Amino acid sequence: MKIIMLGAPGAGKGTQAKKIAAKYDIPHISTGDIFRANIKNGTDLGKKAKTYMDQGLLVPDELVVDLVVDRVAQDDCAGGYVLDGFPRTIPQAEALDKALAALGQKVDYAIDVEVPDENIISRMGGRRACVGCGATYHMEYAAPKAEGICDTCGKELILRDDDKPETVGKRLDVYHEQTQPLIDYYASAGILKEVDGTADINDVFQTITEILGA
Ligand code: AP5
Ligand code: MG
Repeated sequence: MKIIMLGAPGAGKGTQAKKIAAKYDIPHISTGDIFRANIKNGTDLGKKAKTYMDQGLLVPDELVVDLVVDRVAQDDCAGGYVLDGFPRTIPQAEALDKALAALGQKVDYAIDVEVPDENIISRMGGRRACVGCGATYHMEYAAPKAEGICDTCGKELILRDDDKPETVGKRLDVYHEQTQPLIDYYASAGILKEVDGTADINDVFQTITEILGA
């Protein structure tokens, strides 16, 4: 099962992708997480990506496409995967389709998690991410057991640099301009599934499992 998660920043792509990956036992591939790991490790890719991410801009397609194409060709992806945060532009979607076609494969589902802009700002302000393992929480909707501490690895929880209100606005603009056109792209391909992302986290997941088949 090859799944793409679409949706605005903060719509809950990562939250749902993790649950899908666990339930269906497939890898969760988040380009945002890959970039953040590279930033943390001080790699060249991380240094380049950071300059864009801190401004709420997309990292250029050429820094993203090969990375994902290589990743989905690895053995653990043979039974499917859930892509979170990729593709984000029409050229990225076209590059993915082309690379998959060369492997005799195609995307099965593009799940669009719909959340209006008004809800996004408050979600981002409440999100906390673990400096150790990258797990995400929300102070109100998905709180950790102990305040400021990751349930999984015990490290500190912080507000992501790009979750500051001034950057969130820019990310939303970029989303509407460059990523939203993918909704029509996948609707035309006949694989778009839209879910209401304003519902409770478990209810959103329930809807997704009904789409994917339990
Ligand atoms: P990325 O990390 O992908 O960020 P994003 O798309 O902006 O999305 P987020 O991770 O912020 O949100 P999410 O939808 O995963 O929501 P979450 O589940 O955390 O990318 C970061 C940057 O990297 C980009 O800006 C860009 O620069 C670069 N980049 C990455 N991929 C790229 C690409 N392909 N091309 C170019 N550049 C790229 O949920 C948000 C919060 O809400 C959490 O606190 C969560 O607990 C809470 N929550 C989730 N669901 C619910 C719910 N149903 N009800 C209440 N609260 C909820
Ligand atoms: Mg995410």
